[in-house]
Amino acid sequence: MIIAIEEMKREDMLRVAKLNKECFPTDNKDIHYALRWVDSCFSGKGRAQYSVAKEWDSIVGYVLFKENGGFREDAVLELEQIGVTESYRGLGVGTKLIQDALKSYVHNLKADNRKLKCVMVTTGTSNEAQKLYKKAMGAEPACTIPELYEGDELVMIARKEGLEKKLGIEL
Ligand SMILES: CC(C)(COP(=O)(O)OP(=O)(O)OC[C@H]1O[C@@H](n2cnc3c(N)ncnc32)[C@H](O)[C@@H]1OP(=O)(O)O)[C@@H](O)C(=O)NCCC(=O)NCCS
Repeated sequence: MIIAIEEMKREDMLRVAKLNKECFPTDNKDIHYALRWVDSCFSGKGRAQYSVAKEWDSIVGYVLFKENGGFREDAVLELEQIGVTESYRGLGVGTKLIQDALKSYVHNLKADNRKLKCVMVTTGTSNEAQKLYKKAMGAEPACTIPELYEGDELVMIARKEGLEKKLGIEL
């Protein structure tokens, strides 16, 4: 399996929307809503960035990072969403997506004379994705928000030390 992580292009939109609907069936009520949502996040380029995982020309996963609180010198990112198509799960695609996308984000921040302070991410308290965030970014639980989407939501934060260790770069 050869997986390449690339910045999403406009022509990837429909495939990412379909993957969004597959991975998060209850978030958008149908494919039109999923398409609208992906399109509006993609339009926020500069503040939000989609990366896709491709095997040859097939998109098998995506991750969306966005910047919170302004274009700060010490940037605070949020991993807004990640999805990998079912038949590719458990193979390390999610980890590679997060780490490669973050390395490219850090590179862009440095070119803008800024640096990454931390990455926040939220997920359902029973979602196994918590393990992914710990493994890929060294994220740790920070607090729980009761009854946010479909139940209690755990807020996790990956800070400098954990990120540097996991990404193998200096922030
Ligand atoms: C969460 C998701 C993106 C993980 O992608 P993936 O490609 O399977 O992730 P990886 O193969 O890199 O797994 C990394 C680690 O995450 C953990 N993990 C992730 N999802 C898991 C699951 N469903 N069950 C058990 N462990 C899981 C494992 O500990 C794994 O490490 P290991 O292989 O060393 O045991 C994928 O399962 C998915 O798309 N799920 C549906 C959408 C979703 O819930 N997204 C996250 C909420 S925003």
